[in-house]
Amino acid sequence: MLGDIVGACGRQSVAQLVPQIHEQYKPDVVLANAENTANGSGLTPDQYRKLCKAGIDGMTLGDHALRKREIFSILQDETNIIRPGNLPEGAPGKGWMAVQPQDENLPPVYVMIVLGNMFMGLNANDPFASVDRMMAQLPRTADDNAIILVEMHAETTSEKQAMGWHLNGKVSAVFGSHTHVPTADACLLPDAKQAKRKTAFISDLGMCGGHESVIGRRVEPVLTHLRTGVYMAFDVADRDPRINGIVIDIDEATGSATGIERFTMHADRNKPPFMA
Ligand SMILES: [Fe+2]
Ligand SMILES: [Fe+2]
Repeated sequence: MLGDIVGACGRQSVAQLVPQIHEQYKPDVVLANAENTANGSGLTPDQYRKLCKAGIDGMTLGDHALRKREIFSILQDETNIIRPGNLPEGAPGKGWMAVQPQDENLPPVYVMIVLGNMFMGLNANDPFASVDRMMAQLPRTADDNAIILVEMHAETTSEKQAMGWHLNGKVSAVFGSHTHVPTADACLLPDAKQAKRKTAFISDLGMCGGHESVIGRRVEPVLTHLRTGVYMAFDVADRDPRINGIVIDIDEATGSATGIERFTMHADRNKPPFMA
């Protein structure tokens, strides 16, 4: 699972490094948050297709999910892309998906995403109740050993940790996104009472994009805005391209997480597709 893909630099870094992810970790499924793909905000249909082609099996979107109207039909029709499940009722798209690994013998990976409420500025519903509601909609239940991954797209670590505890023992993993800075707390949560499964957790995945930046945007305009109040175009950074994410090991027989590892990979701006 890769953190938020930010702009062209993020897209190119992902395209360059997905083969390395396969070589190094041999994942059954590769997922990414694509909410910042279109110049920092949203995702276009063309970018969606290119990310699929680059080897991203499933995509999540956060508070920027509905920036681009062109993506709405894809949100409705495609089965490998989701937006937060606690958006207001009328929002296009869906909050959970089933991603089938290429190996047909493996069970589907259920993925869902919800928005936190603190400092998010969106009219979202209660993320805890929304996750519970979506869990009840899954074709296979948590008691059924289903593999379930929950992304908590939120500003505060406290709200993300709280979601981890809420779902401890019920899902395979809870991971945070949105703040774009990876956290050093990847772990298997301590045993939930009588739970059949272990839950992997991390507060934030980090991002894929230019790291000489303020969370993926060029430093100068952000600093100018913060120091003067003048509104600036926050263009996307392109220096120090990296991808951040986690590798989760899950026992497919039980849905229990057996390991979680955070990783950072550095992209090379002098190699394709950066040159293109
Ligand atoms: Fe983001
Ligand atoms: Fe976000």
